[in-house]
Amino acid sequence: MDTTGIPHRPGRLPLVGDLLGANPRTPLQDTVRLGKRLGPIFSRKFFDMEVVLVSGVDLVTELNDETKFGKHVGMGVENLRALGGDGLFTAHTHEPNWRLAHDILQPAFSAEAMRRYHPVMLEAARELVAAWDAATGPVDVSADMTRLTLETIGLAGFGYRFGSFERVEPHPFVTAMLRALRFAQLQNAKLPFIRRAFAGSAAQNRADIATMTNLVDEVIAGRRRGGEESRDLLGLMLTEGHPETGERLDPVNIRNQAITFVVAGHETTSGALSFALYYLTRHPELLAKARAEVDAVWDGREPAFSDVAKLRYVRRVLDEAMRLWPTAPGYARAAREDVVLGGKYRMRKGDWVIVPLPLLHRDPKVWADPEVFDPDRFEPAAVKKRPAQAYKPFGTGERACIGRQFALHEAVLALGMVLQRYDFDVDPAYELEIVESLTLKPSGFTLRPRVRATTENVGALR
Ligand code: HEM
Repeated sequence: MDTTGIPHRPGRLPLVGDLLGANPRTPLQDTVRLGKRLGPIFSRKFFDMEVVLVSGVDLVTELNDETKFGKHVGMGVENLRALGGDGLFTAHTHEPNWRLAHDILQPAFSAEAMRRYHPVMLEAARELVAAWDAATGPVDVSADMTRLTLETIGLAGFGYRFGSFERVEPHPFVTAMLRALRFAQLQNAKLPFIRRAFAGSAAQNRADIATMTNLVDEVIAGRRRGGEESRDLLGLMLTEGHPETGERLDPVNIRNQAITFVVAGHETTSGALSFALYYLTRHPELLAKARAEVDAVWDGREPAFSDVAKLRYVRRVLDEAMRLWPTAPGYARAAREDVVLGGKYRMRKGDWVIVPLPLLHRDPKVWADPEVFDPDRFEPAAVKKRPAQAYKPFGTGERACIGRQFALHEAVLALGMVLQRYDFDVDPAYELEIVESLTLKPSGFTLRPRVRATTENVGALR
């Protein structure tokens, strides 16, 4: 797009652009720092690639208008097609498989479907509780939340156990996935030595993708052999046709969707839970309030399906954690026709920009004291007063997150269960460090969980 008049970092150099001071490990956090100085629209340039970032709520409201803009599959997301192919997340909206899969899979995320997943979500949360009961020292919160969410999507989506809590090292699928994500992300690095240093080899990448597809193929073959009926994600993909045309998903697309759901369906939720626990343990008064809600509503019981949505304050804690650190930290929008954004910036059909969510969620025009963690921002009255487009952790429009309800049910359930059962010793020296891959999560964040003295049997394994 025409970037005339769009601010950028001072001291842009010929040839290399804004390379100086850019850290390949923390592109998002660099963007956040820069955006706080440069305002609602700015650009970053590396060699010949200039990317425009838009985070002011007024401009984002225009971008989210589906008649003028749509999802852009480019840069990082395009590279992920090596893993996800035409799966929902990486598909172009014009590919017929996107609409087909979207319509077939929508019922897998209805309220009725959540009711079906609740027992296995509980089962995964019980595994977390068992691991934390047995812990004799501090636990790595992000690692354990990733175990929890991987088990949840494995069980709820595919009836598959990764056995994450029995393993010291991550499941081979996870190791392969993390390397493949890193490889994909770094394909845009312009300097070959950066790619070599951080991304790993192409041969390793091929082996990683093979590890992932082989496992998924085995799970699918097992299901076909077993012949049992199940209305989980895999069951729907194998047996359901399009609600109107009856058309079915082809086997390669089913494999792409399965990989997509495991990848998209666990790291994001895990990060959200970890950030929520980080902020709660830094604010004991808020933790006490959240726990009081759990005690009052659940009354020492293990939650039934309908008990989860009753935790309004716990939900607000998660909302606020995802405001500060939305774990899927951005999305890209492309113009459907020639437009002038904000009455000022010319975009031709196909031109695209990125919306960096941590900056949208800190837009000073909307958010007072944006760095302060305050779940009350999500009181219904406060939400009503804000522009609807000021908070978008699950993306926007027809390509918004299909797994939103799944993630929220799972996260409120798990956070409720750990608040119900544990007090936490914190490491006062820890300062939040965020590791960036496709998603964001706290790094090196540990807590020591202690079963609450007064409620010894609360949330006990039953
Ligand atoms: C806190 C947890 C989660 C967050 C923050 C999150 C965020 C997002 C965002 C921002 C998008 C849009 C990306 C874009 O426009 O390019 C997205 C799409 C998607 N998410 Fe999530 N997600 C979460 C959990 C989940 C879960 C649990 C699942 C599956 C079980 C899931 C599956 C997907 C899929 C399949 C898409 C692509 C949808 C489409 O384009 O049709 N996500 N997610």
